Amino acid sequence: MARPKIALIGGGQIGGVLAQLCALRELGDVVLFDIVEGMPQGKTLDIAEAAPVDGFDVSVTGTNDYKDIAGANVVIVTAGLPRKPGMSRDDLIGVNSKIMTSVAEGIRDNAPDAFVIIISNPLDAMVTLCQKVTGFPSERVMGQAGVLDSARFQAFIAWELGVSVKDVNAMTLGGHGDTMVPLVRYASVNGIPVLELLEQKYGSAEKASEVMTAMVERTKAAGGEVVKLLGNGSAFYSPASSAVAMAESILRDQKRVLPTCALLNGEFGIDGFYVGVPCVLGSAGIEKIIEFKLDATEQALMDNSVAAVKELVGSMNL
Ligand code: APR
Repeated sequence: MARPKIALIGGGQIGGVLAQLCALRELGDVVLFDIVEGMPQGKTLDIAEAAPVDGFDVSVTGTNDYKDIAGANVVIVTAGLPRKPGMSRDDLIGVNSKIMTSVAEGIRDNAPDAFVIIISNPLDAMVTLCQKVTGFPSERVMGQAGVLDSARFQAFIAWELGVSVKDVNAMTLGGHGDTMVPLVRYASVNGIPVLELLEQKYGSAEKASEVMTAMVERTKAAGGEVVKLLGNGSAFYSPASSAVAMAESILRDQKRVLPTCALLNGEFGIDGFYVGVPCVLGSAGIEKIIEFKLDATEQALMDNSVAAVKELVGSMNL
């Protein structure tokens, strides 16, 4: 049986890490596409020459020709500019929507059966644009943001409580921007509410809430924190890991419940917009959007986040 094929559009910082992770996990044969000549070929040759050391039996090749993505089962898109210090993700919309249009045409014409995972920012707008241009059904076009935003939230909780990241459950909803919604009420360590554990640690509910608020704010600003420290470019290891988790769930039909930027059809009171919500990802792509009750505060934060997404998407005049 033929191995699955994964096409990566954009061979920059995230694209390179994606190629290596897909190879190390033997998710399938990897094709790395970029418009820069030589670079994707060079990066993939470098990764492929590590195969005897790491022991992976998949091929990893680079290309400047969209024809080489033919037959891809999953396409992950990182083409586009990253932000510079002081920029918001939304500042990238002009330049990245031009790039996304050409990328979506390339995918539509050469890999018409693929599942597409977008990482390029501003995420919610880029996923919307990609789905419009490809015309693919919405269960096959999704965005990676929530897995990473949630991972950041989980990491901060684990560090604060001195427990393993493996035992922390926490999730963010909404758009991938300053208005994202880290869900405090559902954050737990193996089911034990984080707020309760913070109260035990600090001896007061007020202090627990203060510490939680600081973690929520750090989560919302976490991408910018990395951008500022790097000085040139944005996060690339963690976005790559997050998208690979989504691709793996689809390719191996794991049916993981992952926060995914998905087209909503009335769920959470939102209709016709791409927003981050928990989804079951399996061999049919987004197999289910999991809806659950938000309290009044959470719903207000979600509505605020959706309003920001609507404004940004509206500015593209699709
Ligand atoms: N088609 C394909 N690739 C393109 C195109 C295009 N039309 N235009 C630019 N690229 C490529 C660039 O040549 C570059 O190699 O996209 C790559 C982007 O890589 P980086 O600049 O290193 O950016 P990266 O850190 O990987 O982030 C990519 O993901 O998280 C988001 O905000 C981030 O939008 C940015 C994207």
